[in-house]
Amino acid sequence: MNETANSSARPEAVRARIAPEARILAVSGSPRKGGNSDKIALQALAAAGEAGVPGSLVRLVDYRFGPCIGCERCRRDKACTAQLDGMQLLYPQVERSLGLLLVSPVHNYNVTAWMKAFIDRLYCYYDFGSTRPGEWSTRLADQGRKAAVVSVGEQHGSEGIGLTLEAMRLPLQALGYELVAETPVTGVFERGRVAGDAGAMDRIGDLGRRLAGAVK
Ligand SMILES: Cc1cc2nc3c(=O)[nH]c(=O)nc-3n(C[C@H](O)[C@H](O)[C@H](O)COP(=O)(O)O)c2cc1C
Repeated sequence: MNETANSSARPEAVRARIAPEARILAVSGSPRKGGNSDKIALQALAAAGEAGVPGSLVRLVDYRFGPCIGCERCRRDKACTAQLDGMQLLYPQVERSLGLLLVSPVHNYNVTAWMKAFIDRLYCYYDFGSTRPGEWSTRLADQGRKAAVVSVGEQHGSEGIGLTLEAMRLPLQALGYELVAETPVTGVFERGRVAGDAGAMDRIGDLGRRLAGAVK
C-alpha cells in the first residue's frame, strides 16, 4: 500500500506540536477518586505553585483511552492516529508542560493498568530508524523536560513497591525527560489516608518544589 495515499485523511490536530512552558502536568494513575495518589499529586502541585510554577492534575481514570495496540502507525505519522480516544486530550498537555509528575499506586508490585497504558501511548513520540533493532530518538528530548515519579502502596519497605518506580522512571528517561526526584510512599492503604501522614506530605512538598525549581 502507498503509505502517503491516505495522508489527507489524517487528523492534523493530533499532529500539532506545542512549545513547552514552565508548568507541571501531574498524572494520577489511581482508579480511586480522592485516593492517595490524587492527594500526593495535589500536594506536589500546591508546593510547585507556591514556588511560582503553575500546574494541573489529570486523573487517568477520567479519560477513556486504550493501551497501545502496537500498530506502529506512529512511526509514519509522528502521532498516534490509530486511536482517536482520550489520549488525544492528554497529548497536548504533555507537550505543553516542561514538568511531568507521575504518581501511581502500587498494584501487584507495579504501576496500575491506567498508568502503564498512558506510558505506552507515549510511544508515538519516538523516531525510529529503519534497521532492526534500530537506532531511535525522541521528539520530547533536548527541550529541558523534567520529571518526577511517586509510588504509593500499602506495604512497608522497598519489597512491597516492586517495579513501580522503575516502571515510570525508565520510560520517562528514554523519552528524554531528566528525572529530578522520586519517592516511594509506603504503609498507606485507605483512600486518602496519606493526607494525615505529615512526614510523607513534607517529602512530597519537597519533591514538588524540586520539580518546580528544575522547570523554571
Ligand atoms: C489490585 C491491587 C493491588 C495492590 N498491590 C499492592 C502491592 O503489590 N504492594 C503494595 O504495597 N500495595 C498494594 N496495593 C495497595 C495500594 O497500593 C494502596 O492501597 C494505595 O494506597 C492505593 O493508592 P490510591 O488510593 O491512590 O489508589 C494494591 C491494591 C490493589 C487494589
